[in-house]
Amino acid sequence: MAISTGSKVIRTAVFISGTGSNLKSLIKFSKLKISPISINLIVSNNTKSKGLKYANIFKIKKKIFTFKNKTDEKKILVELKKNKIDLICLAGFMKILSKTFIKNFKGRILNIHPSLLPKFKGLNTHERAINKKEKYSGCTVHFVNSKLDSGKIILQKKVKIKKSDTPKTLAKRILSQEHRLYPKAILKVFNL
Ligand code: GRF
Repeated sequence: MAISTGSKVIRTAVFISGTGSNLKSLIKFSKLKISPISINLIVSNNTKSKGLKYANIFKIKKKIFTFKNKTDEKKILVELKKNKIDLICLAGFMKILSKTFIKNFKGRILNIHPSLLPKFKGLNTHERAINKKEKYSGCTVHFVNSKLDSGKIILQKKVKIKKSDTPKTLAKRILSQEHRLYPKAILKVFNL
């Protein structure tokens, strides 16, 4: 599973659509000595993503694409190449990437998903886990392949579901675990 880095820093793009709290935690991680990655590009499909503010705060280049058609995907690929991006981390990114796009970055796209995959792929994971009376939910970091939320699992963290949990309270507890899990998964991918 490990990707070899030699000793060079892995130039990384983070794709977001919303708040960007995982982006923030990845940026903080990237600044640590133990981190194999640097974050060189933030990509969003949404001009209103709150997370875009981190581009200004941390002085990271940002690009917005609609992801609506193949031409757009080609433009993104050009931008990634221009910035010498080696790794893509999807973090709350709400668009599905095409097979062609994924092929171009084979084995070099990671995603974080707020459930214990293979359970609850797709949307509304917390609501579904609570309705199914699951005892645990959690989060998963996995490689991205052409099937939604189905690539090889890198790491998971279990979170207990409380009787009193609502989707919102559970989402909050899981999100704080996501912030720890993503950096750990990156270290694992690079055998560190
Ligand atoms: C996270 O729960 C992530 O797992 C899911 O969307 C949420 C994004 O949160 N895919 P944030 O934008 O990183 O704060």
